Amino acid sequence: MSRTENKNSIVLIFDDDEASVVFVKRLLSEHGFRCRNVVDAAEAKAFLQHHSVDMVMVNIPSDDSSLRDVVDGLGRQCPGVPVIVTAAKENQKAALRCLQDGAYDFLLKPFTEDELVFCTRRALERRTLLNEVNRLQRNLKEDLQEQAGRIKASVFNTIRTMVFALEAKDAGTSGHSQKVADISVEIAKEMHLPPESIDNIALAGLIHDIGKIGITESILNNREALTEEEKQQVQQHPDIGVRIMGPVIDDEEILLSIRHHHECFDGSGYPDRLKGYQIPLGARIITVADAFEAMTAERPYRQAVSREDACRELIRCKLTQFDPEVVDAFLRYIKTKEPTL
Ligand SMILES: [Fe+2]
Repeated sequence: MSRTENKNSIVLIFDDDEASVVFVKRLLSEHGFRCRNVVDAAEAKAFLQHHSVDMVMVNIPSDDSSLRDVVDGLGRQCPGVPVIVTAAKENQKAALRCLQDGAYDFLLKPFTEDELVFCTRRALERRTLLNEVNRLQRNLKEDLQEQAGRIKASVFNTIRTMVFALEAKDAGTSGHSQKVADISVEIAKEMHLPPESIDNIALAGLIHDIGKIGITESILNNREALTEEEKQQVQQHPDIGVRIMGPVIDDEEILLSIRHHHECFDGSGYPDRLKGYQIPLGARIITVADAFEAMTAERPYRQAVSREDACRELIRCKLTQFDPEVVDAFLRYIKTKEPTL
């Protein structure tokens, strides 16, 4: 390290022996280091609260165990700043204990100019290296977060494209998935769910029917009564949805919401005939949002049910098809939005 490189490095000298301080300050200053000195732990603590330093040099005057606390305190107050302990031969044991407690190096008194400067340079080089490592780690973390954000946005756009493809295939359902997602989010907010769960429910609502991509178009668009075999095919769409999304979405809450959005509160739904609170909350919320949106949406083959009648139907099916708490949360939301209902 050159004299120029040293000029901004600040060394804090912690020593109550004035002659020793004068000696060390003179030598280090001649080599371009800026030095400050304190005489006790309280002064050192106060100084470090208002100034940053690159190295601390602590003299160990005796086998005083409280100095080990001082070294430990320095380590906590300025992490990454190397501490060099200096001591006369009779205090060597105490100095070595400070090394065990985290001091970086040890200089036995009396030391030469070369030993002092070599030890100081080595400690400051380590400090510089540590700063560089920390800077690189911060940059790496920021880069990874940025990349993760870009990948997440890309996956989300792909999922949206798949939803549009599905709705183009299933005549008359344009915008259904987004509306289910929006209503689900409002119910989740009304139930005071945490932000992470609300985000998961938003995505699960958007893709709850993605598995219909795997169902034959003629069955999806069949407006007559379905045969038993056709019904069984349609009922596979939650499972197909999980199989499509499983490799892309690493979140069980979302995948379970997709799988169970056709379960009924009384256990009469599909695919697993789950009952009551066995059904994941996200699925119970999407079920209500899906039913309301489906009832009130205009379709080419039937008229929309009025919003009042749809609300009555939700109330009628509390405990059979729907979780009553979710229906109540939905009704609170819809009455806030549309007070006339
Ligand atoms: Fe569905």
